[in-house]
Amino acid sequence: MKKYLVVICLLISLTACSKGVVEQGRQIETLKKGWKFTKGEVENGEAINYDDSKWETVRVPHDWAITGPFDPKNDAQSKKVVADGEKKQKLRLGRTAGLPYMGIGWYRKYFEVSADNADKKLSVEFDGAMSNAKVYVNGKFVGEWPYGYTSFAFDISDFAKVGENVLAVRLENLPQSSRWYPGAGLYRNVRLVTTNSAHVKHWGTYITTPQVTDNEAQVNIKTTFVGSEKCTLLTEIYDSNNQLIAQKESGAISGNETVLKQDFQVNNPKVWSIETPVVYNVLSKVVSNGKTVDVYKSTFGIRSFEFISNDGLHLNGKRLQVQGVCMHHDLGPLGAAVNVSALHRQLLILKEMGCNAIRTSHNPPTPELLSMCDTMGFLVMDEAFDEWKKGKNKNGYTHLWDDWAEKDLTALIHRDRNHPSVFMWSVGNEILEQFTDDGWKRAKFLADITHREDNTRPVTIGMNREAPAENNFAAQFDLKGWNYHTHLYPWLKEQHPDWSFIASETESTVSSRGYFDLDAVPRKHYTRENLQCSDYGLDYCNWSNTPDVGFAMLDDNPHVAGEFVWTGFDYLGEPSPYNVEWPTKNSYFGIVDLCGFPKSIYYLYKARWTNENVLHILPHWNWNQEEVKTVPVHVFTNFNSAELFVNGKSYGMRTKNTKKKVYERYRLVWDEVKYEPGEVKVVAFDENGKPAMENSIKTASEPYTLQLVTKYTKIKADGESLSFVEVNVVDKDGDFCPTANFPIKFTVEGDGTFHAAGNGNSTDITPFQSNERNCFNGKCLVMIQSTEKAGTITLTASSDNLKAAGIEVSTY
Ligand code: GAL
Repeated sequence: MKKYLVVICLLISLTACSKGVVEQGRQIETLKKGWKFTKGEVENGEAINYDDSKWETVRVPHDWAITGPFDPKNDAQSKKVVADGEKKQKLRLGRTAGLPYMGIGWYRKYFEVSADNADKKLSVEFDGAMSNAKVYVNGKFVGEWPYGYTSFAFDISDFAKVGENVLAVRLENLPQSSRWYPGAGLYRNVRLVTTNSAHVKHWGTYITTPQVTDNEAQVNIKTTFVGSEKCTLLTEIYDSNNQLIAQKESGAISGNETVLKQDFQVNNPKVWSIETPVVYNVLSKVVSNGKTVDVYKSTFGIRSFEFISNDGLHLNGKRLQVQGVCMHHDLGPLGAAVNVSALHRQLLILKEMGCNAIRTSHNPPTPELLSMCDTMGFLVMDEAFDEWKKGKNKNGYTHLWDDWAEKDLTALIHRDRNHPSVFMWSVGNEILEQFTDDGWKRAKFLADITHREDNTRPVTIGMNREAPAENNFAAQFDLKGWNYHTHLYPWLKEQHPDWSFIASETESTVSSRGYFDLDAVPRKHYTRENLQCSDYGLDYCNWSNTPDVGFAMLDDNPHVAGEFVWTGFDYLGEPSPYNVEWPTKNSYFGIVDLCGFPKSIYYLYKARWTNENVLHILPHWNWNQEEVKTVPVHVFTNFNSAELFVNGKSYGMRTKNTKKKVYERYRLVWDEVKYEPGEVKVVAFDENGKPAMENSIKTASEPYTLQLVTKYTKIKADGESLSFVEVNVVDKDGDFCPTANFPIKFTVEGDGTFHAAGNGNSTDITPFQSNERNCFNGKCLVMIQSTEKAGTITLTASSDNLKAAGIEVSTY
């Protein structure tokens, strides 16, 4: 039976066959179902005979805090954030979203070891555990890993036995340990891996492509072997069509941790790029007495790149502007629990905007994200830390620095160094050591580790202000990342003409989808009674700027390789500028809201970042005529000029103009357009002055019905895939009602479950698991999850006085 499985798996795909995979000699079981969980301290929670029958049964990845309830008392942090220019302490309420992530949590999972596997090696791999993980098998302590974002593995061969075993994990999150919502629990995948005693080490291949030309690529593979018997290593390289294109078998190897180097030449390589994210597969086969005793799978890509001080990033010999976004790791209503469907949807939404790079701010990401970036064509700035020894949080990394910094950084690099998407290592963000005289020593310590473990990518960091350029701190890095401080770029270049720069963090513009303050002027750290930020994309923080100012900086400093906007999506926590108010549970920084709905500035970026024609009109056209006499109309477009009409009457042409206000360089603005219900139409002109595109918006009448829309009409019946259904309030003619804010109820029937919902409103603290919630400015999002039974799921949405709507999703 096992052999049969092997053949099928290899035939179907070289990509990992999911759970319980048996590849010759290696068995990988992802431990998803049947975990027992409880919150709070448990005496002897690790003991074999501990009675956990009353504990909750959960599925991992699991985030114990996302079910809330939201409460401002959860982790209220009294804090002066020096980096934000604050002079006094403030009681920040929603900094970590007001979710109960703090405290202790215990997980237990029973697993069987068959008699066949009695002599095998067994290890347990965690993609991340939040946090301070202590791992036990059959009541005995196996090991610990405090930093919640690092992936780690333990050899548990000496702890496990044939028959039933119990794996127990104790986690503990301290309050004041994070600047954003970190999540809680076993929020990433956990695997049991069984191998023969001779096998390839965990993260045991290191694949580099030191030379790449159109005709051939040199591929060097270092493989670390574990075991005492004499074996050979057969390494096979497969192209993206699963054709074997190169192979090599080594002479005899033996001895623990023997590193074997094999060099290959790949002819006519298909290079990895944003447009052609081609991934190659490697099978490393350990052969003993003619029998394959282990098969270890890796992937890599063939590409060359360099940062040039005067001309940014060159990928495969051509300049590539980095059009990146910073992302925190939470998935909005799903919290930090990793879900592949949700991650994929985030990347798709970003890709459609023309985004080509992700900064994993400010910590190691889940490995699934990197695999998706490899195959979807994103560059990744893979980041390790938000703080070093000089702490930002009372209970933050400062306490781990001495013992763990090297281990955490090494683990990140070993895990991620084969990913073609990873193109720089970032060892920190706005690290406080940058302002001290000897901070450079810690910078050098991390840069040296990084160079030692992988010298094929530059080491960078997100710095701010002038000091690090002058005190030997910035000098430690191959690529200099600066956050904000757009005015510094010309000065930096003048001081250090040979340095290469990237704008590691930009903008921090704050906006709420669909809420427009008609006093549409740039506003710094402005707060409103309704706790919202305007969707004109002109509100920003003390330390930050509007997108338009950021664009001007990059256009005026073409040597900078590009930018990472803060942030792609809204995230849980850090609700600036409403840090002391409540209820504000999530950020306003996203280009996209917490549920994946684009805010207006999405189209400003899309116009700049893609070649697709963009002509987006804002605000909406549903105002109260008694109160609103004139409305500023902005158009986000990549056409140079356009004419605006309201009910057929022209308001004239506008042309992008560098001489006026900065923001009119990148958007077309009609300051005062008389408001009257009806239609707003914009006609854009090409370079020859010919009409090239038009777009319009209309005043909607009363809300009449709900409209359910999804791209996810077929999902896998695997008990974890999600369908994302957008709910729009529309009038009788099907026109979107942009000011609708009232309760909607959802019911799910059939072969799926209601999983979560949200609306993108930072001030809404309805639990994400509630099947009743307000829509926010006409929209909300429902996530329905498959069961393991293939069939049909029916979602119905209803609201008082509106026509209900339903949608079907099939599962296979
Ligand atoms: C930056 C910081 C980010 C986030 C952002 C908000 O200074 O690096 O983590 O806090 O500000 O604007």
